[in-house]
Amino acid sequence: MPKNTLSKRGKKALHTELRADLEVFFNAANDLFDIETNPGGQFPVSMAENNLSWPGLRERIEQSISFKAMPKWVSNYTGMGGNEDFLEAVANFMSVHLTGCAIEPNRINTSAGATAVLELSSWILCGAGDVVAIPAPSYPVYSQDFGNKSALTRHDILTFENLERNDGLSNLTIKDLKKANAAINKSGKKLKLLVLTTPDNPTGCIYTQEQLSEISEWCIKKKIHLLINELYGLSMIHTNHPDIKEDYKEEITFTSFAQLMKKKKSDYLHMSYGLSKDLGISGLRVGVIHSYNEKFLKAYANLNAPHLVSNLTQWALTDVLSDRDFMSHYIIKNQARLTSNYALVIKFLKENKIPYLPARGSLFVWIDLSKYMRGNSKKSEHKLWQDLYEATGILLTPGTGFGHKKTGQFRFVVSFLQKEVLNEGLKKMADFLTLGK
Ligand SMILES: Cc1ncc(COP(=O)(O)O)c(C=O)c1O
Repeated sequence: MPKNTLSKRGKKALHTELRADLEVFFNAANDLFDIETNPGGQFPVSMAENNLSWPGLRERIEQSISFKAMPKWVSNYTGMGGNEDFLEAVANFMSVHLTGCAIEPNRINTSAGATAVLELSSWILCGAGDVVAIPAPSYPVYSQDFGNKSALTRHDILTFENLERNDGLSNLTIKDLKKANAAINKSGKKLKLLVLTTPDNPTGCIYTQEQLSEISEWCIKKKIHLLINELYGLSMIHTNHPDIKEDYKEEITFTSFAQLMKKKKSDYLHMSYGLSKDLGISGLRVGVIHSYNEKFLKAYANLNAPHLVSNLTQWALTDVLSDRDFMSHYIIKNQARLTSNYALVIKFLKENKIPYLPARGSLFVWIDLSKYMRGNSKKSEHKLWQDLYEATGILLTPGTGFGHKKTGQFRFVVSFLQKEVLNEGLKKMADFLTLGK
């Protein structure tokens, strides 16, 4: 038997895990705490999933699948950006609920999840060895999304270095971008893509329209593609909730980048979206790319065959997404549940004097547990993560891989567990942190 039959890139893939903590997450998710039936169970708060509103959505999806006759196109090949009816439903859904401006179906393509969208977009817009700049701390899997196949190098632009309080707004400036660009040029590489996530993973911060407009102009001038990832665009936290409102100086509503794109109509501006987070259906695999760059969209469709959303999913969701009343109600209820869970976590953080970044959206709180570490190395961060999990069942995401420098930072997902279960987990975490239990 030959020792290794893989190509060079196959061998690299063999050693590039998507996430190092996947197995421990699945173990914890299969052993969930239940006060009656599994009081010794686990509290995974490490996976960016929202389980809070699934029962109602499941019922609505089941209704579509059970009572509607399946059209013939479901069993055939369809458009390479998605089926026509699906594209129309997705574009309308985005226009009505997310962007506040009309998105034309011919200016979007759909793929199996945001991951596919990011990978394919970067493959088309950049060349191997080019650089993608991302404000840090950021979603760690961006390294794989842009690195695995597109072979881009990731450059982290440090923001929130000292977890300074900032009202849930990104503190990225043009000065930061100029500095990053100069450093990349100096290294002999080219900055080809800037990716901003709003609301952000893991900080939950958002970008204002003024900030995005300035950044867009800079990117257009420098011929750098700007991709705004709005995957959490409908997962907004109500900042006027009485338990959290003191964290925010003013109420700022999230405004989609689509509005600026419509005004500027530049070939360098793009927006990604998907249903994994806002609808809590990461398993159905729906991602969207929106752009005014017609050549980009055409190239994308030409390469999209391996990434298409299954027609069965497209059909089932066409009906659900087009049900405007249902979706409006769903979004309102989902944001109320998200806010309520978020407020519970913030109350716990305040009671225990744990520093955190106030979020305006997303499913997360970015917290600083460094005062509970022995030492300040990655090893002591890992030890705290492990000890906390072993003692309480609380499974956080350690900050390693988020591209920032400080140790002792963790991401807390507020939407994975139902509120009552989350509350039990927080009590155990408080005991562990104060008493070392
Ligand atoms: C910022 C960001 N982009 C992309 C993804 C991947 O999403 P999908 O499951 O739709 O591929 C995630 C998932 O956590 C994310 O947080």
